[in-house]
Amino acid sequence: MRIREIAITGEPVLHRPAARVERFDDDLRDLVTDMFATMELAPGVGLAAPQIGEDRALFVYDWVDDDERQHRGVAINPTIMLAPLRVDPVDEDEELEGCLSVPGERFPLRRSDRAILTAWNVDGNEFTVDAEGWLARIFQHEYDHLRGILYNDRLVEPFFTEARDAIHREGWGKPGFSWLPGRDHPEG
Ligand code: NI
Repeated sequence: MRIREIAITGEPVLHRPAARVERFDDDLRDLVTDMFATMELAPGVGLAAPQIGEDRALFVYDWVDDDERQHRGVAINPTIMLAPLRVDPVDEDEELEGCLSVPGERFPLRRSDRAILTAWNVDGNEFTVDAEGWLARIFQHEYDHLRGILYNDRLVEPFFTEARDAIHREGWGKPGFSWLPGRDHPEG
């Protein structure tokens, strides 16, 4: 197991669709082990393979809900179906989202309240999760990563511009930036 460097926005692998996983082998298992360890140390509730420089369509997630129920898994070659977005104004406290590839920042973003995720696990077995609330948000965020979309790409004004300015202030938005959980503390 190895803790992996997390790519920061501007790294090309984050901004293009990830390649489909074709082989369910030990190499894939090792990658998943690294992803869980890296996500846990970061810490984060989700991590997509492109975030550690791997051009492969999978993500891991690990989140405990208000009833102390743990939602943990790996989603390989996922597809997602979404309920329509609510159209009332975004709640700046309740809908704050962040990303390990835009470390230290959070912005409000409307997501669908319900997401049905279909994917494969490391054993090559298909599964479906019908998610609501924050788990649905995690699925949408991580699925987007596999399409080359970061959450800040989806923000509405004024948050879109605020995020863009924050990224420019950090000098990000171009290739070559990453951070290592356990060594770097980009959250300050
Ligand atoms: Ni992210």
